[in-house]
Amino acid sequence: METKVWNEAIEFDSSIKEAAQFLLNKQVVAFPTETVYGLGADATQEAAVQRIFEAKGRPSDNPLIVHVADKDQVEKLVHVIPPIARQLMDEFWPGPLTIIMESNGSAAENVTAGLSTIAIRMPDHPLALALLRTTDRPLAAPSANRSGRPSPTTAEHVFQDLNGRIAGILDGGPTGVGVESTVVDCTTEIPVILRPGGVTKEDLEQVLPEVIIDPALANEEQSPKSPGMKYTHYAPEAPLWLVDGEEDFFHDQMEELSKQGYRVGVIASDQLAAQLEHASLITCGSRDDLAQIAERLYGALREFKKADIDIILCETFPETGVGAAIMNRLTKAAVKKIKQY
Ligand code: TXA
Ligand code: MG
Repeated sequence: METKVWNEAIEFDSSIKEAAQFLLNKQVVAFPTETVYGLGADATQEAAVQRIFEAKGRPSDNPLIVHVADKDQVEKLVHVIPPIARQLMDEFWPGPLTIIMESNGSAAENVTAGLSTIAIRMPDHPLALALLRTTDRPLAAPSANRSGRPSPTTAEHVFQDLNGRIAGILDGGPTGVGVESTVVDCTTEIPVILRPGGVTKEDLEQVLPEVIIDPALANEEQSPKSPGMKYTHYAPEAPLWLVDGEEDFFHDQMEELSKQGYRVGVIASDQLAAQLEHASLITCGSRDDLAQIAERLYGALREFKKADIDIILCETFPETGVGAAIMNRLTKAAVKKIKQY
């Protein structure tokens, strides 16, 4: 299959129209959102949705997020909108917040992977919204990467993973948030964060009297409520080691591995990078600006190729604000964590 790439900078209207037509013909098309690129299909068409699972190599028991252009579309997908969910939509939509509600069964069955609940969000991106309005369909869209790989934050990343496997890619330039949406389960009395993301726990606490984090996220013995959180994820080509400690400690680990003959790649903040002299080093922004780290993280994870690098060392970040999402992804991507005592 030839994958068509539309550059929105050239002809916005005709690109959207053509991409929408592909979707209505049950093809899959990647498009930008404010978080990461999504791989979209008509959420009401089982055959279209099936193509998402095939293109990504995604396990069929991992349900998809349904994207909508307005709140009326939500009414058509759920039994009722719980008051707390409505409050969250009013406050955070369009934006990086996915809300789990009881499904009324009108989405294709493979969207929800057999669950009674459905995940819905309204993305905050002009291209995504234009595509949703033009198709006038809810669009199921997981991140547009091959399963297990870091999510794509540019059209080029999507192309690397899915060229020849999908009908098209709408190129809207780099995404802004850089990590995926926060997934919140609103089917229980107290809402539960199933996946930390672009809307932080602190943001949610401004609006909700109480919100908890799925305890399974911090405990490997428990199985998480969000099926996707149990899979290996975000893995770069070379094994990633997280180094939790002072700058000197990081430096010593790096030197030791180099001395043993490993080709070491480093992902570091500007602050740590300034303290290290190392040839293969990627900086992903200031430690004082976690939003910037989030924006550049997945690009950095994709940068090192296994032909050049044996081990990637990456520093850890504070788990406040969007730092919770950053550390959640890094912990899943890492094969090893070295802690200074
Ligand atoms: O920012 C994002 O959320 C991006 C963009 C494209 O919107 N999408 C995204 O989708 O990250 P995906 O498929 O990579 O992650 C969806 C997550 C998975 O962990 C999945 O298990 C969970 O949401 N999920 C979907 N439906 C669910 C449900 N009914 N109950 C619990 N978890 C659900
Ligand atoms: Mg994903």
